Formats: sequence, C-alpha cells, structure tokens
Amino acid sequence: MKSLRNTLTSTLSPTITNMIRMDHTAVLETFHQYEIDTSPSVKKGLVNTACIALEIHAQLEEEIFYPAMRTVSSDKSVLEKSVPEHNEMRRLIAQLRSMDANNPAFDYTFMELMRNVLHHVADEETTLLPEAERLLGSRLSELGAEMTKRRLQLTAPRAGELASSTVRSFPASSMLVAAGAVLAGTYLAKRAFEGQGHSRNH
Ligand SMILES: [Fe+2]
Ligand SMILES: [Fe+2]
Repeated sequence: MKSLRNTLTSTLSPTITNMIRMDHTAVLETFHQYEIDTSPSVKKGLVNTACIALEIHAQLEEEIFYPAMRTVSSDKSVLEKSVPEHNEMRRLIAQLRSMDANNPAFDYTFMELMRNVLHHVADEETTLLPEAERLLGSRLSELGAEMTKRRLQLTAPRAGELASSTVRSFPASSMLVAAGAVLAGTYLAKRAFEGQGHSRNH
C-alpha cells in the first residue's frame, strides 16, 4: 500500500508533460549561447552541458514517457520515430565529444544537432505532449514523480561532468540560468527522493 507521503509526493509533483517542456526550454537556452565567434573553450563547455542534458532527457522519455504513451495513443506515428531520432542525436553527440572545438566542423556538427533537436522538440510539443494531457489525465503527476526520482539516479553520477562543463562556459552569463535550472532540478529531485526514502523507513 502506498504511504501517505508517497501519495502526496505524486500528487504534488509537477506533471511529466511540464517537466518535459522545462527540459526542452533549458536545452534551447544553452543553444542560444553558442555563437560562431564564441571561444573554443566556452563552445566546448556549452556543448558538453547541452549533450548531458539531452542524454538524460532522452533516456527519461524512453524509460517513462514513451512507454506510458504507447499504452494509450491511437496514432503512433510520432512515437515510432522518436527513438530513432534520439539515436541520431546520440550519434551526433558522440561525434562532437571526439572533436576539437577549434575544428570548423565542430560548429557544423553542433548546428546539425540543434536542427535535429528543434525539429524533434517541435513534434513533441505540438503532438505528443497535448495528446498525453488529453489521455493520461491523473497519471501525469504520478509519472512526473517517477521521472524526478529516475532523474536523480541518472544525474548524480554525472554531477562532476556537469560542474566542469558549467565552469568552462562560465563567461556566457545566461548560461548560468540554464545551469541553475539543471541544478535546481537536481535539488528538487533529491528532496523528493529523500522524502520517499524517509517514508519507507517509518
Ligand atoms: Fe524526445
Ligand atoms: Fe523531449
């Protein structure tokens, strides 16, 4: 049986669809900081931050959001291309990690990743998220809580990587906003997670 605290955590949690929108906004914020004449070390920091955020986001959707949608959605066309599109992003991310930011091809590869992400995010925000809100109803907060808990597990081992890429991109001032969003998300995730752990002990 669910404890009262678990039930409250689920009920009070942001919905999974709003969390997905917040993740998209944070990644797009990072993209906006990248300019051709930005210094290579700042470029590398911005790209690392965006790539980690994208990897965690894609995994959360694949583990929690897409499976929930597969059980209720009638038109699966957008869902079916979602995972192949994530895999294409992963391919570009791997390529970027192996590249030097001084290489002009670094800019083109990052532009290609941005184009892919913008297209994918537009599809999710115009089709999948509104559909989820129509079809998943009261499960949206419960799935949001599940996503928060899983996010903490995925983010914790990468905290060092996130911190170092934030330091590298420090001169870009609104980057701090994006980094702040990642850190605030982790903080909230940690609190929710500890709250649940606490209730299990009683
Ligand atoms: Fe996605
Ligand atoms: Fe997404």
